[in-house]
Amino acid sequence: MVSSPSDALVAPALPSVSVVVPTFREAENLPHLLRRLDAVRTDKDLDLEVVIMDDDSKDGSVEAVAAFGAPWAKIVVRTENRGLSPSVIDGLNMATKDYVCVMDADLSHPPEKIPEMLIALMAGFQFVIGSRYVDGGSTDDDWGIFRWLNSRIATLLAYPLTRAKDPMAGFFAMRRADLQRAPYLNPVGYKIGLELIVKCRFDNVVEVPIHFSDRELGESKLTLSEQLKYIKHLRRLYTFKFGTWSHLLQFMVVGASGVIVNLGVLTLMLMFGADEAVAVAAGIVVSVLSNFVLNRRFTFDYARHKNVYKQLVGFVLASIVGGSIQWLVTMAATQQLPQIPIQIAALIGIAAGMVFNFLANRFVVFRKTHVKAKVAPGTAATAHDVAPALSPAVDPAHRGDNDAARTGAKA
Ligand code: GDD
Ligand code: MN
Repeated sequence: MVSSPSDALVAPALPSVSVVVPTFREAENLPHLLRRLDAVRTDKDLDLEVVIMDDDSKDGSVEAVAAFGAPWAKIVVRTENRGLSPSVIDGLNMATKDYVCVMDADLSHPPEKIPEMLIALMAGFQFVIGSRYVDGGSTDDDWGIFRWLNSRIATLLAYPLTRAKDPMAGFFAMRRADLQRAPYLNPVGYKIGLELIVKCRFDNVVEVPIHFSDRELGESKLTLSEQLKYIKHLRRLYTFKFGTWSHLLQFMVVGASGVIVNLGVLTLMLMFGADEAVAVAAGIVVSVLSNFVLNRRFTFDYARHKNVYKQLVGFVLASIVGGSIQWLVTMAATQQLPQIPIQIAALIGIAAGMVFNFLANRFVVFRKTHVKAKVAPGTAATAHDVAPALSPAVDPAHRGDNDAARTGAKA
C-alpha cells in the first residue's frame, strides 16, 4: 500500500505502548477499563496493547475480556508465584511494544493520561509517574487521615532513594529497553515502580499530575502484611543503592532503639521498686541484648546463619571496647578543648565509640565470608536478590513472600 501525504499528516506521533495491568478479582472493572483505554487508542491513533496479568481470580475476568473482544487486549492467567509485583514483572517481560505503562485495573488511574506520559518519555525523561502529589494532582476527598498519613510516611521513607513526590504510585511508564538497566529485580510487595526507579538507576524521573479516584467496585488488597513488606523492601533498596552506608544507617537506627529499650527497662525496674544500681545494670544488659538481636536479624542479616554464641561474645566484647573508646575520647576531648561543654565532648565520644563498634561488627563479628554458593553458572545471584530482569524466572525463595501477600489478600 502506498501512503498518501494525508496519511503522513495523521500518522501517529506517539510511540507504541504495552499497558500492563495486574489484577486480582477485578472482573467488574475490566470492561470499564478496556472501554476507556479503547477511547484513548482511537482518539490518539495509538498503537496500544493491553496485557492483563490475572492471578487466577476465577471471578469471570477471563470471560469479561473475551466478551469485550478486542484483539489488542489479552488476559494472562497466572497460577504460580502470585502477587502484584511478580505479575507486573511477568507482564513487562511479555510486553512487545517500545514503551511500557503499568496501571491498576480499578480505574484509580486515569488511562487518559497515558499519551501525556508517553510525550514526557519522548522528550527524554526515563521514567514517568502518574502522580497524586505534584501540582495539579489530587486524591478523592474521602481518603481517611490514616490512609493519607500512611501514604505520606511511606513516601518520606523513600526520600533518600528518589526525590519523586509519589514514588509509591502503581501508575508509571518507561521505555521497554530500559528494563535491561536493572541487574535484577526483587518482586516483593506493592512498590514495583520504586523498585524499577532504584534498580534501573533512573535519575531523570518526571511526574504527571493525575486525579487518583477511589475504586468504586471491588475491594483493595493493600493489607497490613503488605505494609510490613514495604519496610523489608526499603531495606533491600537502601542496601542496593548505598551498600555499606546502609548497614551503618541500620546500625544507627538499632542503636537509637537501644537507647529507648535502656531507658524503658530502667524506668520499669524503678517503678517496681528495684535498686537503682540494679535497674541501671539491667537497662544496659537488656539493651545490649536487644541491639544484638536486631543487628543480627537486620543490619548484618547476611551473617545470620553463623554461630550465634560466637557472635554474641564478639558483639559484647566490641561493645566493651567501644564503650572504653567512648570514655577515653570524651575525656580527651574535654581536656584538649576545655572551652566546649562536656555534652559536646560526650557526643564526640559517642561518635568515636559508634564508629569503632560499627567497624568491629561489620568487618569482624559479622564479617562476610565468601562461601561458594551452589548456583548454576551464569546466574549472578546473591542470597537475597535473585530474579533477573527480563526473565519470568523468579527465585523460589520469594514464593513465600508472594504467597503470604496472597493470603493477606484473601483475608
Ligand atoms: N496479579 C495480581 N496479584 N494483582 C493484584 C494482586 C495480586 O496479588 N493484588 C492486587 N492486585 C491488583 C489489583 O487488582 C489492582 O488492579 C492493583 O493490583 C492495585 O491493587 P489495589 O488493591 O487496588 O491497591 P490500592 O488501591 O490499595 O493501591 C494503589 O495505591 C498504592 C499507593 O497508594 C496501587 O496503585 C498501588 O500500586 C499503590 O502503591
Ligand atoms: Mn486501588
